[in-house]
Amino acid sequence: SQPQRIAFAIVTVSDTAAAKTKEDLSGPAIQQLLLASKRFEADISSAVIIADESEEIKQTLLSLTDRVDVILTTGGTGFAPRDVTPEATKAVIERDCPGIVTALLMRSLQATPLAALSRLTAGIRGSTLIINLPGSPKAVKECFEVLEPILSHAVHLIK
Ligand code: MTE
Repeated sequence: SQPQRIAFAIVTVSDTAAAKTKEDLSGPAIQQLLLASKRFEADISSAVIIADESEEIKQTLLSLTDRVDVILTTGGTGFAPRDVTPEATKAVIERDCPGIVTALLMRSLQATPLAALSRLTAGIRGSTLIINLPGSPKAVKECFEVLEPILSHAVHLIK
């Protein structure tokens, strides 16, 4: 059978990338991984870069809800005062997905003890699954190993 078509949005959350003082490497890394996957046919509807601003993150997530199947954010999950992606995500999700968080953290801790410094969260709003990833291409790649085999079934169940 044909691989399932999944509509994705990628949201890079980074002050420096938004200000164009630093190139966004994580967003493009996600894009590349999604498009290369044989588990599903990725339709990347939207890829945006926004600052570490709670209101902007919430508005972005709300505007994408029910318009894509999966929103993957990258960045802003750490301990720095400006890292507010998990709180903004928690403010918009209706249902928690602690299993995804656990799976991501387990995989990440195999790579580095610094994975404990990510406060990433995941949840569902409407028919959209929202998942936070840390803000590095390495972290994105490691986390995608966990997400790739579960996304099709997850989206199938939500819809
Ligand atoms: N997770 C994985 N899989 N691989 C990594 O290299 N880096 C960690 C962590 N999670 C890392 C990881 C580091 S160093 C930090 S500071 C936190 O993610 C938070 O990153 P963020 O603020 O860019 O989201």
